[in-house]
Amino acid sequence: MGSNTYLLLPLLLLGACKPAPDERHVLPGADAAEGLRLAKAVGCGACHVLPGLDWPQGRAGPALGGFAKQALIAGKLPNRPEVLVPYIRDAPALTPGTTMPAMPLSEEEARHVAAYLYSLDD
Ligand code: HEC
Repeated sequence: MGSNTYLLLPLLLLGACKPAPDERHVLPGADAAEGLRLAKAVGCGACHVLPGLDWPQGRAGPALGGFAKQALIAGKLPNRPEVLVPYIRDAPALTPGTTMPAMPLSEEEARHVAAYLYSLDD
């Protein structure tokens, strides 16, 4: 047994207990209902169809139903909380040239909005 085996073993064990999809999306302390309220307040609905929001239902951006199941954000970035939160606040910083504008949300507010988006699993 080479010494590499000892290094690899913990990594293999970690791989074996990969978190379920829902656990990947956990945002401690964030609240999906508050996220929907904030998404309404800042006008995400002007460009997106948001489950839970009847009006407006803008079409400039993709409909966000089922977003929790997507592997990627905007087809480019891994769909994980640590990427989604900054993306919601400043999409152009992460995907230069995008038409999704930066939105006036604090990091805490964006965490609530992310929790709401991760509640959209169908
Ligand atoms: C002015 C229109 C506009 C507004 C307002 C807007 N977005 Fe977007 N959004 C877009 C567009 C356009 C895209 C597609 C971006 C791309 O593909 O580069 C997008 C992409 C996204 C994505 C990625 C969707 C996917 O299927 O990968 C998420 C999530 C998102 N927006 C959330 C929000 C949230 C939350 C708000 C409110 C805080 C918001 N957007 C406000 C236009 C907008």
